[in-house]
Amino acid sequence: MNKPIRKAVFPVAGLGTRFLPATKAMPKEMLTVVDRPVIQHVVDEARAAGIEHFVFVTGRNKGVIEDHFDNQFELERTLQERGKARELEALLRDLPGPGQTSFTRQQGPLGLGHAVWCARDIVGDEPFALLLPDMLHHAPKPYMSDMIAAYEANGGNIIGVYEVPHDQTHQYGIVDVEDANAKVSMINAMIEKPAKGSAPTNLAISGRYILQPEIFDLLARQERGAGGEIQLTDAMITLSQSQPFFAARFDGDIYDCGSKIGFLTANVAYALAREDLAPDFRAALKALLKD
Ligand code: UTP
Repeated sequence: MNKPIRKAVFPVAGLGTRFLPATKAMPKEMLTVVDRPVIQHVVDEARAAGIEHFVFVTGRNKGVIEDHFDNQFELERTLQERGKARELEALLRDLPGPGQTSFTRQQGPLGLGHAVWCARDIVGDEPFALLLPDMLHHAPKPYMSDMIAAYEANGGNIIGVYEVPHDQTHQYGIVDVEDANAKVSMINAMIEKPAKGSAPTNLAISGRYILQPEIFDLLARQERGAGGEIQLTDAMITLSQSQPFFAARFDGDIYDCGSKIGFLTANVAYALAREDLAPDFRAALKALLKD
């Protein structure tokens, strides 16, 4: 029996330099896609998949994320007094339950691998989900549920992947798999940003992972990789020598909210998917694009 996936880690300690000056005092994870912060969309995905504990690896200037996932008594009381029951109910529905969140700090932006390692004591000796908040997976069903289903069927480690254009593979972490057409397939190799034209597939790592706790022992070595940072992919490549890794394909739309174009496109796509906004927003877009 595979151990259940109860905890999810959200690394939110990056500097967000691509969004300066917006991210000077505000974490990029709090930028909103329509009316929800990016991090809320990703926590929603994990919650809908049955995750029970949410571990945030934060850094300086990120205190507002902690506040976002806590009660806001004054606001709640005011909403109650003004009879805004629907707004109040929606606010409370988004909140993880008491004791379901943990916050730890990455004291310096030493890389994604280092951020994940900072969660080791909170995660403990069990497999866990890892969700990169920048990457919004837009689909009718929360993608993390598919990841957990793939894990329950196969065990080991699961990496979310999606197809990217062949001429852009050099910008991504790419996996080689047994069967590129299968929904879930054994991974043969992982390559971080392969040289142009050398990628074995166009399946890129999407920012969703289920990892076994042994990854922490490898990250503890603190070996520096590309850009002088402690890279998660390097540790996964080493772990794949002793444990199976599977790729689970995501067929919905992915928006990289760490980039301006991805973030702006996400706002348009999520607004167009909202019944309450789509008709008026579509008309506004049409008027804007008329020439
Ligand atoms: P990115 O490299 O996209 O985030 O890391 P960044 O460094 O904040 O972005 P730019 O390039 O300066 O604009 C992917 C994810 O890993 C987290 C980030 O917060 C983001 O969610 N991360 C990255 C950390 O938590 N710590 C790090 O040291 C690096």
